[in-house]
Amino acid sequence: MSLDQFYRTYSPRQPASARYLNQRSMPQRAPAPSPAPAPSSAPAPSSAPAPARTDSNDILAAYRINEQPYYRSVADEVELYEAAYLVRMPMMLKGPTGCGKTRFVEHMAWKLGKPLITVACNEDMTASDLVGRFLLDANGTRWQDGPLALAARHGAICYLDEIVEARQDTTVVIHPLTDARRILPLDKKGEVIHAHPDFQVVISYNPGYQSLMKDLKQSTKQRFGGLDFNYPEHEVEAEIVEHESGIGRDIAKKLVQIAERARNLKGHGLDEGISTRMLIYAASLIQRGVDPLAACRVALVRPITDDPDMRDALDSAVTTYL
Ligand SMILES: Nc1ncnc2c1ncn2[C@@H]1O[C@H](COP(=O)(O)OP(=O)(O)O)[C@@H](O)[C@H]1O
Ligand SMILES: [Mg+2]
Repeated sequence: MSLDQFYRTYSPRQPASARYLNQRSMPQRAPAPSPAPAPSSAPAPSSAPAPARTDSNDILAAYRINEQPYYRSVADEVELYEAAYLVRMPMMLKGPTGCGKTRFVEHMAWKLGKPLITVACNEDMTASDLVGRFLLDANGTRWQDGPLALAARHGAICYLDEIVEARQDTTVVIHPLTDARRILPLDKKGEVIHAHPDFQVVISYNPGYQSLMKDLKQSTKQRFGGLDFNYPEHEVEAEIVEHESGIGRDIAKKLVQIAERARNLKGHGLDEGISTRMLIYAASLIQRGVDPLAACRVALVRPITDDPDMRDALDSAVTTYL
C-alpha cells in the first residue's frame, strides 16, 4: 500500500493526537467553497480527468488523487457510476473482499477529479468519529470536523468502507445526507452543513458477511444505488494479476485457475474464495523469486483455511495447476 493511500484513509482509530498533528498543518478556516453547479447542471465527466488543484489553501489537498489508479473495467460499472455521480446518487458497492471495490472508487474519484475521503468502518466507531467533535487545545476548545463533515462541507466523495461493521446507531448519521435534504446537522456545534454540490457518499459491503445482527437497515439501503462486484472472468483477472505484480501471463493464468477451483468450494468448507488481492500477493512473491508452490501456500491457502483436510486439498490443487 502506498503512503499516499495511507494518507487518504481516515481511520477513526488513529489516535486523536495524530489527527491533531495532521490538522495543524492545515489552515484553521477553509476558503469558502467555490459555487459549484447544482447537480442537474453538473459538468458531464469526460474521459480526461479534471486537473487536480495545487492551491496551498486547499483543505482537501491530502485527499486528491493526482495519478491515475489502474482499474480494469469489467462491465459497464464506470459509465453507471458516472451517471450516478451526475445526479449525486449515493452508491453502494457490493461484493466479496479483494475484488476491486476500493480500487474502483479510487479510480472514479480520480476520473471525476474529486477528492476521496475513505473511512474504514468498525464497531467502535461513533457518530462523533464521523461527524466531528470539540477538541481541547492550548487556546481552549475548537471544533474539528470528522471525515463525513469534512467531505460534506468541502465537496469530497466520502467512502465508508465495510459499512456493516459500524453500529446502526452510527450509520444513521448519513441519512439526512443521503436523501433530498443533503444536510448534516452538527448538534453539538449548533450548525447545519448543507452539503457541497460535489459531495457524494459511497459505501462498500460484503453481502456474504452480514448477519441478522450486522446488516444495514432497509431505511439505509434504500438511500443508495447498488453496483455488484465480483471476481472478474479469468482472462481479465489474469490481466489484472499480470499488471499488478509484473508476473508473466502464463503464471497469472495458472494462479487464476487455482483461485477458480477454490471459489467452487465456497459454502462447501470455505467461507470465502481466493480473492484477486491474494492472487496478486502470490504473483508478487513468485516475481521476487519465491518458489511458486511455497508462494501459493503462503499467499493463497494458509490465509483462507484452518482445516487440515481443506488445506491439503488446496495444496494439491496448487501442485496440479503449477
Ligand atoms: N478491476 C480491477 N482493476 C484493477 N485492479 C484490480 C481490479 N480488481 C482487483 N484489483 C486489484 O486487487 C486488489 C484488491 O482490490 P480492492 O479494491 O482492494 O478490493 P476490495 O476493496 O473489493 O476488497 C487491488 O489493490 C488491485 O490491485
Ligand atoms: Mg476495500
